Amino acid sequence: MSLTPLAERMQSIKPSPTFAAAGRVKVLRAEGRDIIDFTLGEPDFDTPDHIKAAAIAAIQNGETKYTPVDGTAALKKAICEKLKKQNGLDYAPEEISVGSGGKQTIYNALTATVNAGDEVIIPAPYWVSYPDIVLLAGGKPVFVPLSAAGGFKITPEMLRAAITPRTKWVIINSPSNPCGAAYTPAELQALVDELKKHPHVMIMSDDLYEHVVYDDFKFTNVVMLEPALKPRTLVVNGVSKAYAMTGWRLGYGAGPKWLIDAMRNLQSQVTSNPCSISQAAAIAALSGDHTVVRERTHEFQARRDATAKWLNEIPGVACHVPEGSFYLFPSVEKFIGMCTPEGEQLTDDGAVTMYLLDAAGVAVVMGSAFGMPGFVRISYATSLEKLEEGCQRMKTALGALKSANGGKCAA
Ligand SMILES: Cc1ncc(COP(=O)(O)O)c(C=O)c1O
Repeated sequence: MSLTPLAERMQSIKPSPTFAAAGRVKVLRAEGRDIIDFTLGEPDFDTPDHIKAAAIAAIQNGETKYTPVDGTAALKKAICEKLKKQNGLDYAPEEISVGSGGKQTIYNALTATVNAGDEVIIPAPYWVSYPDIVLLAGGKPVFVPLSAAGGFKITPEMLRAAITPRTKWVIINSPSNPCGAAYTPAELQALVDELKKHPHVMIMSDDLYEHVVYDDFKFTNVVMLEPALKPRTLVVNGVSKAYAMTGWRLGYGAGPKWLIDAMRNLQSQVTSNPCSISQAAAIAALSGDHTVVRERTHEFQARRDATAKWLNEIPGVACHVPEGSFYLFPSVEKFIGMCTPEGEQLTDDGAVTMYLLDAAGVAVVMGSAFGMPGFVRISYATSLEKLEEGCQRMKTALGALKSANGGKCAA
């Protein structure tokens, strides 16, 4: 018998490891430690002024009451227009679901569709919440391990090997959190061709980082390439990452009406509508001027280039340069098994992460949290100065590690 009255389903999930890592930074800083924080999963920029102004106007206009459960008509219209203008996609308002973040949208969709034992294909490394949401729904996450050499991208062959008659969904997150990989139209087309052979499989296209792509990369998703997949795809997006609005909690999905209806029913019993003021702000974000978004992407690109260079200059670190998002995902495999100056052996990427925190005062998130041991995630949503200093500190700390003698560390 369990020791507490908690439901069994709570045993299948853990707190979000990225929130936990950020929490540890706060505690250490409160103790007076000088920590450079590379754990952040949000832009370091502020929400643009025209978006804040729309929110203030909404408050002053009395837009402070319940709205329709899955979004106001005005916001749904703005989302449909965004999908048409930026993605060439035709969606009707009744095919749009607005929730309190992309996270709630994903939760709603999986909870509304996954039965006990249903499989959800999740390429690894993955965003931390996918497996836990699947587990909460009683489903089975099926991980497909990807490699840095393959650009952290799933191939049609890997996808085919993972699909079974129990597959309910495959999740495609491009650009990716945690590794930044984004699929070119040709790479995505190859996946589309495979998916067309498996009509029972639904596709979740997590496009949260759509606007954070570099070097003139052309963002695409599966429905943009193949309209025939539209009836079984949920396109997930939101305002958090593109418009520096993580705290506003506003995300949305575009998909078949039967799914959107079910998601609304679920949301109506859980949270009701997303914040009315955030909805007004999101209209301004989606339909307003995008100059600031482009400028920020430029800034992110400069940081990606510089940080990847600094990381690759650290002997033993190997960092793939990805197409988008604001994360780098270098390998720290070479340091596993090595000894700290205090004589402790680094047994895994978690130990490397703790060592970097203790010895260098640099906080990163271990790759295991994203289903990819041997790596760490570095968010470059911080200033170039901090990125340079953090890389320098990591170089010094990692350079102080010694090889184990006969597999053992001596103090
Ligand atoms: C890949 C991915 N999808 C979805 C989300 C959810 O974002 P939000 O709930 O803030 O819209 C995140 C946030 O970190 C993410 O990285």
